[in-house]
Amino acid sequence: MTSWLNRIYCEDALQGFARIPDASIDLLVADPPYGLGKDYGNNSDKLDTDAYLHWMEQWIDAALPKLKACGSLYVFLTWRYSPEIFVLLKKRMTMINEIIWDRRVPSMGGSTRKFSSVHDTIGFFVKAKDYYFDLDAVRIPYDAETKKARSRSIFVGAKWLEIGYNPKDVWSVSRLHREHRERADHPTQKPLEIVERMIKASCPPGGIVLDPFMGSGTTAVAAKRCGRHFVGFELNADYCELIENRLAELEKPAAA
Ligand SMILES: C[S@@+](CC[C@H](N)C(=O)[O-])C[C@H]1O[C@@H](n2cnc3c(N)ncnc32)[C@H](O)[C@@H]1O
Repeated sequence: MTSWLNRIYCEDALQGFARIPDASIDLLVADPPYGLGKDYGNNSDKLDTDAYLHWMEQWIDAALPKLKACGSLYVFLTWRYSPEIFVLLKKRMTMINEIIWDRRVPSMGGSTRKFSSVHDTIGFFVKAKDYYFDLDAVRIPYDAETKKARSRSIFVGAKWLEIGYNPKDVWSVSRLHREHRERADHPTQKPLEIVERMIKASCPPGGIVLDPFMGSGTTAVAAKRCGRHFVGFELNADYCELIENRLAELEKPAAA
């Protein structure tokens, strides 16, 4: 087994990429700082616009050679910088989807001079036309009511009714509330449901997922739960410990 596999390195991704051989990664899931001033116990989200865009370009250029020819990238962004980053990525890759993650934020007052922003913008990019993609692994089953409503003879035996539907490009998944059982001590932790969908669709079983900005380790946990390998980086030592704890939890037998 390769020594860097299934490891989280507590270091700057820009240095860490050198550990990983070129063309060895099936899927890159990147959830970088958004450039919005969030507190990750470091200054990584406190760059001004020019410095932020320069840094984004730097890590993208260091990360992309690590992808296999059939590999894919999902990058979490917000509306604020997704236009600039999409332009940058479209010069290097093929854009497949813009996915909107609707965080299902409840209405509670909020902004009065603009519409409240309640979504993340996720870019899905590939290196080549023959990229790996397993739609069947992420189809959403129709509920019994819908199936019943389509019981007319023209629908009977319809394959799509049996195998479920394409999740489409608007993913409505609740953000993790404080009391959510998945919730760890990280300000921008992503739900497993979102990352597991990316992994099942875009990384073959037994393949390798790279996440340069692990945060609370959602990608590592998701990869392990899905039978894929992972590798990643995280600057904050407390988050690195959190990731190890989350991974260790997976080893424990499930409560009856
Ligand atoms: C948006 S959060 C990732 C959240 C993660 N997806 C999760 O579900 O928990 C970004 C993370 O990147 C880390 N980070 C920022 N700059 C970094 C760098 N240069 N190298 C490695 N990690 C970095 C931050 O400390 C922060 O925890």
